[in-house]
Amino acid sequence: MLKKAITLVALTFLGSTGVQSADLFKPEDAVKYRQAIYQVFAAQTGVMGGMSKGDIPFDAAEINKRAMNIGKVAPMLGDTYFPATRDVKGTKLKPAAWNDMQGMQAKGEVFGKALGELITASAKPDFDLKKARPAIGALLQGCKGCHDDYRAK
Ligand code: HEC
Repeated sequence: MLKKAITLVALTFLGSTGVQSADLFKPEDAVKYRQAIYQVFAAQTGVMGGMSKGDIPFDAAEINKRAMNIGKVAPMLGDTYFPATRDVKGTKLKPAAWNDMQGMQAKGEVFGKALGELITASAKPDFDLKKARPAIGALLQGCKGCHDDYRAK
């Protein structure tokens, strides 16, 4: 079976298309939607991290599938980042993010690059645990890099 490879994962937080997501979603729902997407991320990286540590048997196709799953939902994050969500109770997005969306966007790009590289690498026949570890590590660093600056504890 041919594994698909997307090398570029769009992770755009500021919508630029005609219809504004603020017109489509209530702020409270958008925050739940956003957090649910991050939960999807965590479920996928949980499996990948388990393989990386040796807790789960290594399976390149499974890693490719998990990385692709993140790539499928990540572009939806853009729907959820509009200013009216900043005052929603329960959001952990730091208010600072709104003053520095550019900076957060840059973290998203680092993450998107690591994800794209993992998708590409894991589709190759020579992808083994030795190659998987640093590639998964880079992805997790991408998560952490953004959380450190833009997610409240
Ligand atoms: C560019 C920034 C960014 C990246 C990259 C990122 N996150 Fe997050 N993450 C956030 C922010 C901001 C929140 C808080 C959102 C909110 O509460 O409104 C969050 C929240 C979460 C949550 C909590 C969701 C909930 O139910 O409240 C989890 C779990 C999570 N992220 C996992 C991940 C994982 C795993 C990755 C990497 C595969 C990742 N994130 C990548 C910014 C990021």
